[in-house]
This record gives sequence, structure tokens and C-alpha cells, in this order.
Amino acid sequence: MCSTAVTISLLVAIGVLVTIPEAASSEQAKLRQEGGVFVTSSTLKWVDVKGHGIPQHAVPISEEDSTIVWCRSKQHGTYVSGSLINGACVVPFLNSVYITTKKFEVLVSVNGSARLLRVKWDKYRAPPPNSISPGHHILLAMHTTEDGEFHAGFLKPRERRVHIVVGDKVVKEDTAMILVEDEPLRYELRDIVLDVPRTEISPDETELTVVTLVNPGSSQQRIEEQATVTVRHLVYWGRVKGTLAGRSALVVNPDGEQRYLVWGDQNELDRAHHLTLQADLPPGTGTNARVLATIRKTEAPYTGQLTAVYADGSRLARTIQGLHMDQRLIELKAIYSPPYYLHNKTTLDMPPVTQVLYKSTTTTTTTTTTTTTTTSPAPAQASIAVPEAPKRGSLSTDSEPSSAPSLHGAFQPLMLFLILILLNTFRKTVDRI
Ligand SMILES: *[C@@H]1O[C@H](CO)[C@@H](O)[C@H](O)[C@H]1NC(C)=O
Ligand SMILES: *[C@@H]1O[C@H](CO)[C@@H](O)[C@H](O)[C@H]1NC(C)=O
Repeated sequence: MCSTAVTISLLVAIGVLVTIPEAASSEQAKLRQEGGVFVTSSTLKWVDVKGHGIPQHAVPISEEDSTIVWCRSKQHGTYVSGSLINGACVVPFLNSVYITTKKFEVLVSVNGSARLLRVKWDKYRAPPPNSISPGHHILLAMHTTEDGEFHAGFLKPRERRVHIVVGDKVVKEDTAMILVEDEPLRYELRDIVLDVPRTEISPDETELTVVTLVNPGSSQQRIEEQATVTVRHLVYWGRVKGTLAGRSALVVNPDGEQRYLVWGDQNELDRAHHLTLQADLPPGTGTNARVLATIRKTEAPYTGQLTAVYADGSRLARTIQGLHMDQRLIELKAIYSPPYYLHNKTTLDMPPVTQVLYKSTTTTTTTTTTTTTTTSPAPAQASIAVPEAPKRGSLSTDSEPSSAPSLHGAFQPLMLFLILILLNTFRKTVDRI
């Protein structure tokens, strides 16, 4: 037993435990990756339809006929795959054809989000990466005859043969087409409509730093001090069913702002602002400059057009719903205290001065009320913004096994605990085999 396989399957198991469970009658499909490691598909699931018809977005076996779809049923404790024909799941098992009309599951593309490929296989080749498995290490396989007939069954990678139902017989073949899930390379999110009535804007001023400016000289002088403050900027477009977290996503905001983000994660786009603080000070005085940030927090459900872009350049677009969260700086300012004498701390009778250092240009939903009464305006100096460095968020509770999960600090002890439990369970299972 390969140890990587063990680790990965444990991660998959943890993922299932950590994510909120779906309706009990469906299970995410498994994909076989290179080397025989199995991961959970984000776009495909097996749905128990209790014998009632073909569910929406069921995966057809042949592109030409959408009435015959993939199904799986358990035969003697083992899942095997075949085709759902006229309400009956027809599967090969050992040397017989089994027909199930009650207890079977249908392969469904979650909201039509899966892109599927049929990849040629023969016994001299390894199964293609991301082959879909009904369970128990076998893979969905089909055969097409020259006259367009198609037959479904499964590939047993270890045996290097496919088992296919042809009429009322099980046929074993050395070549087949394997059903493979194509994973998007990246996403694009456009046409975003925020549900404005439920948008919450909570601006609150945060003191970032206090800088002291002094004029020890014997005449009035303009004193300058440099300061750098880093302001958190968080962006999240939610975790959307049937999408792969961790992929790059180009997001076009309703206000036209474009940004590359990590999909499915809280993105932390912290930004450093280099500030020049300055004050005209009488001789022998100083002033304290408080640097204040106004942060806008937005939380809103949204709908948008999500396009998945694949390696071959093909695109698959659909409308999604999600929850958007954004926390960003909209204004930076400095408030200079009235000057005071350095030697006896007596404050001079002068008003405080407010200087705006930065103002966000994206003000679509801003409702900031500028109540600063600047009496004697100090010469304002624009702050120079350093390019932002996108990085993976720290608040993500990603359970995607294919993208390295970045978990919130408080989560890790729980994960470790789960891993230990699972390791134990796994050992017991191995002992029994
Ligand atoms: C998927 O489709 C269902 C119904 O068709 C809808 O309620 C749900 O919001 C969709 N999910 C996503 C993530 O778009
Ligand atoms: C502090 O010093 C200034 C100037 O030297 C003077 O005008 C002021 O009266 C002093 N204040 C006190 C409380 O001594």
C-alpha cells in the first residue's frame, strides 16, 4: 500500500467530515489521479433517485443519447457501474448481467458544472488522470461499436480489462473509452449583481499608528516624518458548489475593478501605504499625529456568471449564487494635535488639523459622511501605494483535497484530532483485510 494514497484518502475522508453534509441520498464521486490516488470530485455526485426517472444533469453515456445515463449499484458489497436503461440500472458483475430497479444511484453533474471527456484507453496504458470511479477502485468505461451502439461497464485497472454489458452478456475487452472529468484551469466571474438591500456597510475608524513630529529649532519650520502603515483588505466570493477552490479567478467587480483572486478562499490583499506626515510647527514645539483608517465591510449575497476555462481553451459558463465579503480601506487620514511646548508640555491655543492621506477611488456603495472640519489645512501629500501582493487567505476552511488546504489556526488541533481518529480506523480496516 502506497503511503501517499493512504494520506490522500485520509484527507478526503476528513474533507467529508468537515464540510456540511449534503442530503443523505447523494455522495460526491471519486476521481482516480495518476498513480492510483483517489480524490473527491467537486462537480460530480452519485444521487439515489429511488427509482424515479432521470434526475436533471444526469451524465449520459453517449453524447448522442441523453436518455441512457450512468448508474451504479452495489453487488455483493461492491459498487459497479453500468447504464440506466428504462428505469433499470444494468451492470456487469463477474460473468453475469445484474438489473436493479430499486437501489441504485445515478451520476449527476452538480448544476451542470462538470465537463466530461471520453478518453481512449487500452491495456498497455495507465488509466487517464481524473477517471471517474463508482467506488472500489474501478473506473467508468464504455465501448462504442462501428455502427454507433454503445455499451457501458467498468475498467478494473489491476486486471487491465473492461467489463461491459453487451445485450444479456458480460464481455471483457482490452480497449475502451474512459469517462474523465476535465478540471478547469481557472475561472472568470462577471456580471456580478450584489443583493444591495442586504449589504452591510460598517465604517469604523481604526487608529493605525501615532507619529510625533518635533521642531527643536529656534524658528517656525515645516517638519516631516515618514511612516508606513499596512491595511488589511479582504475579499471573498464564497464557496460555490461544483467549483474547485484554489484555482485562479479573474473577478470583474460591479464597479469595473478587475482582480485576480484565489477562488473559494478568503483573499488577503494587504496593502502598504507610505505616508509623509508634515506640520508647520512654532519653535520648541511638537505635535502628535494619529493616523486613522476608515474601513468598509460589505457582506452581500450575489449572483454572477461564472466561466470555467479549460486547458484546451474551451469555456463553460453558468449562473451562480454566492456570498460576497469585502473589507477594505476607504480613507486614511492624520489628525495632528494642537502643538505643545517641548519643555513644559503646555498646549498652544491652536486647533487640531486633519489631513486626508488616501481616499479610495472605488466608491460605488460608499456612504461615508465627511465630518472633518479642517480649520487650517496642512499641505496634503498623497500617499504612495505599494503594489498589492495577493496571498492565500487565512480564514479559509478549505476541504478540497487537490488544493493544499490552508486552515484557520483554531482549526488545526481539530484536524489533527480527526487525522488521529481516522488513522486508527484505517489501521483497523487494514488489519481486517
Ligand atoms: C444549483 O441549482 C439549484 C437548483 O437548480 C439552486 O437552488 C442552487 O442555488 C444552485 N447552486 C449554485 C451553487 O448555483
Ligand atoms: C510653557 O512655556 C511657554 C513658552 O516658554 C510659556 O508661554 C508657558 O506659559 C509655559 N507654561 C507653563 C504652564 O509654565
